[in-house]
Amino acid sequence: MKKPMNAEILKAKERLDAGKLVGMPTETVYGLAARIDLLKAVEQIFTVKERPFFDPLIVHISSVEQAKTVTTHWGKAAQVLADNFWPGPLTMVLPRAATVNEMITSGLPTVGIRMPAHPMAQELIKAVGVPLAAPSANKFGRTSPTSAAHVRSEFINDDVYVLEGGDCQIGIESTVLLLKEENNKAIFSVLRKGHVVRSDIEQALKKAQVPFEYLEAVSKKESPGHMKHHYMPAIPLILVKSELSVQEIINAAEKALNEMPDVVEDVKIQKPQNKIQKIVELKLSSDAALASRELYASMRKSAESGADLIYFKMKPAHLNEHWEGIFDRLTKAASLIL
Ligand code: TXA
Ligand code: MG
Repeated sequence: MKKPMNAEILKAKERLDAGKLVGMPTETVYGLAARIDLLKAVEQIFTVKERPFFDPLIVHISSVEQAKTVTTHWGKAAQVLADNFWPGPLTMVLPRAATVNEMITSGLPTVGIRMPAHPMAQELIKAVGVPLAAPSANKFGRTSPTSAAHVRSEFINDDVYVLEGGDCQIGIESTVLLLKEENNKAIFSVLRKGHVVRSDIEQALKKAQVPFEYLEAVSKKESPGHMKHHYMPAIPLILVKSELSVQEIINAAEKALNEMPDVVEDVKIQKPQNKIQKIVELKLSSDAALASRELYASMRKSAESGADLIYFKMKPAHLNEHWEGIFDRLTKAASLIL
């Protein structure tokens, strides 16, 4: 006998079916979901998020069968990577099928596909029976949400039903991989760094004896949505890479931040409201997996602590592949790098 659907999942499904948006927990960050076949709802994602239409959305699926309905080419490498990393924090960018409207892919011939591991996300997608388009559930350019409370605080004035799925276990967004398969060879690029790193991908392909090539350079066209600034907390964050005292950080920030433009690529740059008096250090665990889990919640907490400025100190222990995804976020969240 089929298990009866949990009341919250049923409510979320009904809202999605009615063309409304749902805050969906995933293991990376919470998403703001709509059915891919209800375009008014998809459009609503961009409106509510204040997100420009050139930034494509990820399509979330609950099975490989369903993934095959949104792409025109499911090759051996895609299957190997799905076997190794799905459900989980890996998005594969593959050729778009006509079932995915161009509004979702920002007019690109490709579509980002991911099978989330969070049981509530899986249940919801299964219940709806149609893939869900979902970006991270934050206003454009701001810090991504890793708890249901974060999502609620972000969309206080919008009609968004948020599923309570606890704190996100990964904590930073999925790795986005552009994958092309030609003559039985996989050619891939990492468009966004995340928990799954390049060497994990290479190891999986090697083990399955899939010949591959890694391409470093990717054109802006293939990697839209990669603005200089993103994930910004409500007060300025400074990424400190050099040996500086707290006073030196304050002095440099006072000078440089006021000279910065107010807006860069549509994202508002955070500047101190008053003279900088209280500054707070963002501290993260030394283990990269734990640090990613803490990152966004700690950024939000520091921003709400009454401080004028947050700083994060880069240390030699951070110089390894597993920290790259975190530094990608910190670099974009920072108003200034010293
Ligand atoms: O972990 C995640 O990926 C979360 C959860 C909710 O699944 N989602 C997420 O979505 O981070 P979002 O919209 O915040 O970031 C999606 C990014 C886009 O900004 C873009 O850079 C890339 O994924 N992307 C999506 N589709 C693409 C495509 N067809 N080609 C290239 N990049 C794509
Ligand atoms: Mg996002």
